[in-house]
Amino acid sequence: MLLSIRNLSKSFPGTLALDDVDFELRAGEVHALLGENGAGKSTLIKCLTGAYRRDSGEIRLEGNPISPASTSEAQELGIGTVYQEVNLLPNLTVAQNLTFGREPRRFGLVDGRAQRKMAQEMLSGYNLDIDVGRDLGAYSVAIQQIVAIARAVALSGKVLILDEPTASLDAAEVRMLFDVVRDLRDQGLGIVFVSHFLDQVFEICDRLTVLRNGRKITTEVVADLDRLTLIEHMLGRELEEATEHEAAQKDPHSRSRPELLRFEGIGRDGVVEPFDMTVHKGEVIGLAGLLGSGRTESAELMFGVRASQGGRTRDADGPVAHGNPREAIQSGFGFAPEDRKTDGIVADLSVRENIILALQAHRGWTRPIPRSEQNRLADEYIAKLDIRTSDAEKAIGDLSGGNQQKVVLARWLAMNPRFLILDEPTRGIDVGAHAEILRLIHEMTGQGMAVLVISSEFDELIAVADRVIVLRDRRHTGELSGSDVTSDAIVREIARDDADPRTQRGAA
Ligand SMILES: Nc1ncnc2c1ncn2[C@@H]1O[C@H](COP(=O)(O)OP(=O)(O)OP(=O)(O)O)[C@@H](O)[C@H]1O
Ligand SMILES: [Mg+2]
Repeated sequence: MLLSIRNLSKSFPGTLALDDVDFELRAGEVHALLGENGAGKSTLIKCLTGAYRRDSGEIRLEGNPISPASTSEAQELGIGTVYQEVNLLPNLTVAQNLTFGREPRRFGLVDGRAQRKMAQEMLSGYNLDIDVGRDLGAYSVAIQQIVAIARAVALSGKVLILDEPTASLDAAEVRMLFDVVRDLRDQGLGIVFVSHFLDQVFEICDRLTVLRNGRKITTEVVADLDRLTLIEHMLGRELEEATEHEAAQKDPHSRSRPELLRFEGIGRDGVVEPFDMTVHKGEVIGLAGLLGSGRTESAELMFGVRASQGGRTRDADGPVAHGNPREAIQSGFGFAPEDRKTDGIVADLSVRENIILALQAHRGWTRPIPRSEQNRLADEYIAKLDIRTSDAEKAIGDLSGGNQQKVVLARWLAMNPRFLILDEPTRGIDVGAHAEILRLIHEMTGQGMAVLVISSEFDELIAVADRVIVLRDRRHTGELSGSDVTSDAIVREIARDDADPRTQRGAA
């Protein structure tokens, strides 16, 4: 056995994160680690890589007991890790990133030529045609991920751990990453793959282990397992088919509802071409497009994270200001960003403080929300979104990734905006909570809130949106509504030729 973990336990104040867990990894397999948000996946990995010190239990690598005290010690032992956020330095070149800490030197100085050669050798076999002399940041996230993997494999070479590596990749990039993963598996590496995308688990993994509430539930051969059984293992119950049920409630005529907001000529040079968008009460608008097509940038223009050059926005009463986020909040807009790590959470604040943040900003800081109301709101949303935390006073930074995401969502729901923008709302969220969040979106729109959802998962857009606006090359190019909202139609719209005279601009 390449890696074997026995009776591993780890607790935090108020939480038993891992309870007597066994786990085995073979050489030459891709092994998925699955479970709900807060199940203990990242904690298991952190105990393995020396980021956390375990309370008890045994870890053996190729039969020898190990106790890495730091990630670099784990790396020296043969265990490399790549996280969702690329943990390399974008301002250094690819070569500098790959050789960091082991730079070839001549007369005490870094030998640039030898360094580039070393980097090229490290990348050979990865099918990447890139210039190692360029800054890493010049390349797509997928390429950066592969560079991170190449570095981890070169440094470690026995066990490779991928914690939600595909969360910000598009379909083509996932294929590229999976080719690399398959190659490494065939070379005999043992690979641990953490993901909430079950399709990907079925595609790439040989075996899987499910954790629930810190306990190991089962280890299975993927080919012997069907999706529903897997979900039952993860949730400990059957998944209500909430999404399918809700899909029936979509309104193909949402545009004939009363107008809520009318954006006209919102845009910025080099960011997004000016677009118009009319938002109606209680409707869900989807934004579809490839990575880099301008979806997030459109949202940022609407929320004032980026300033629009010209254009105007009105509601029934007149002009609406959203020149910066503070104005946007005052105007009743909410925005849950895609990258919660940098934009979303204030790690040191408690769950309660994070939840009331947007509502407080909306009311104004001179009118503090009474503590009793804060407690009530926190408890309400912890229950509604099933946020796994020992209590509302826990620092949000100590929650699992998916649960942090839920707190950010709760913050905007608690503010009760009239127009809510959700950028990839279910990224990193487990299957059970996923259905729950889509249900909640429908509940809010039932009360008149309009929602703009950005998602790379077409199934999600189809399940939730009344109509879908498609972006391509930083332009709003088309729109689908009602029964036209299908995966095929979205793909066709995204792929449509620019020179095609039918291409319409500024879909409203
Ligand atoms: N540093 C910490 N301090 C306190 N509690 C923690 C800490 N790290 C993790 N926990 C708790 O341990 C439990 C397991 O969290 P973990 O991050 O392992 O979950 P996960 O399975 O990775 O979930 P997700 O899918 O959301 O990433 C959670 O209840 C979490 O709040
Ligand atoms: Mg995690």
